[in-house]
Amino acid sequence: MEVFRIAGNNSLSGSVSVSGSKNSSLPLFAASLLSSDETILENVPQLSDIQFMAEIISELGAEVERLEPNTWRINPKSIVHYAPYELVRKMRASICLLGPLAGRLGRAEIPMPGGCVIGNRPIDLHIRALQGLGAKVRLKGGVVQIDAENLKGNKLFLGGRHGSTVTGTANALMAACLTPGITTLDGAACEPEINDLCKMLLSMGAQITGVGSHRLKVEGVDRLNGCRHKVIPDRIETATYVLAAAITNGEILIRGAELSHLGAFANLMDECGVEMSENQIGELTVRVGSKGLKSFEVITLPYPGFPTDLQAQTTALACFSPGLSILTEKVYPSRFMHVPELLRMGAQISLEGASAIVKGAASLTGAPVMASDLRASAALILAGLAAKGETWVQRIYHLDRGYDKFEKKLQGMGAEVERLPESALPKSFGPLID
Ligand code: EPU
Repeated sequence: MEVFRIAGNNSLSGSVSVSGSKNSSLPLFAASLLSSDETILENVPQLSDIQFMAEIISELGAEVERLEPNTWRINPKSIVHYAPYELVRKMRASICLLGPLAGRLGRAEIPMPGGCVIGNRPIDLHIRALQGLGAKVRLKGGVVQIDAENLKGNKLFLGGRHGSTVTGTANALMAACLTPGITTLDGAACEPEINDLCKMLLSMGAQITGVGSHRLKVEGVDRLNGCRHKVIPDRIETATYVLAAAITNGEILIRGAELSHLGAFANLMDECGVEMSENQIGELTVRVGSKGLKSFEVITLPYPGFPTDLQAQTTALACFSPGLSILTEKVYPSRFMHVPELLRMGAQISLEGASAIVKGAASLTGAPVMASDLRASAALILAGLAAKGETWVQRIYHLDRGYDKFEKKLQGMGAEVERLPESALPKSFGPLID
């Protein structure tokens, strides 16, 4: 295992380029299975989750080749309907294979994804949608078995207790594309990643209307063709660099971002004193305004609300924003694993139910901390960049799932961060408990 050593308390400056979106790319790999033709995906980020997905679909029988660092060729001419647990268990997003396999092959067997540290992540809405299309679903030996021989278009409602489901919408949409008749998906997620999926499906020959809304209408077709598709920029990565500039009181230029995808995040930055200005070629300059950072209140919600995937990193910013800030989780109410680690750095945060109440302007000090998941890793690194002294972040394999060359991009903006073997951890930290 590797660790990050961060020497904090220095302002970022310079520029950074945003990679393609992880949460777009994963369902797009799955969507390529809907056709027996070749698909080329461009602007795919270099991440361990992408490697897992490539391994899973090649295990299903697709020819998968990385043509260039960010370009993949997928030829799914002949595929089988079942994926092995050993691969699927590594990544929850493999659940997105259900829809394409059911739609193209009329059956699917995917092991049920396991537990997740960010909270309970059921798949009842995915199942309900496929059942609504006429699939017979059963769970046997931990495997979700779908018999989808006789699917038929229908009216489906995709909302649940926590709002719409992103990968559930992707599954229903992909299956509906090859399902005879008209399917209406009400309460559909409208995240930019779902719109990107719709765009790719349309170029494969799917018939979809209502793209960008909570009501998608799909007219099933007999077959889909392959396509060439460029993945959208990663909005969560973009926002993480905005927060990195803000937390270090730096000034940076972000290239390749899509400002219109930032929704409620851009609004919050404005409220809490972070200036983001876009030039004519779409580059974003980010700096803290002359009045400094302000405390804020934010609630995570499905898009266009504030993304849960930015809650941890924004909690780190709150630690440096004078006053009381409140961050409330409405998507994953227990996604606060980063909080005890921030406390180790001297943050003042109390958890009240699904809210973190943060007393800001604390002077954080570097400490050894443990990453629990992808976004928590980023939060701890941001806090380390602004804290006094050295921060050592352990279990950074979580980070590698979703941030393309994170430390290199930060180094390019002057951050003192390095990736080291675990053996480099100072002995004074005591033994690691795994
Ligand atoms: N939910 C249900 N039943 C379901 C599905 C979801 O109750 O069948 C609930 C979830 O428990 C959660 C809410 O609905 O409370 C939203 O979950 P959703 O299904 O939208 O999440 P997901 O599709 O599994 C994607 C992202 C996550 C991101 C969430 C929310 C991908 C591959 N993953 O997950 O990304 O947090 O949407 O925006 O797109 C990350 O990148 O760090 C990450 C965790």
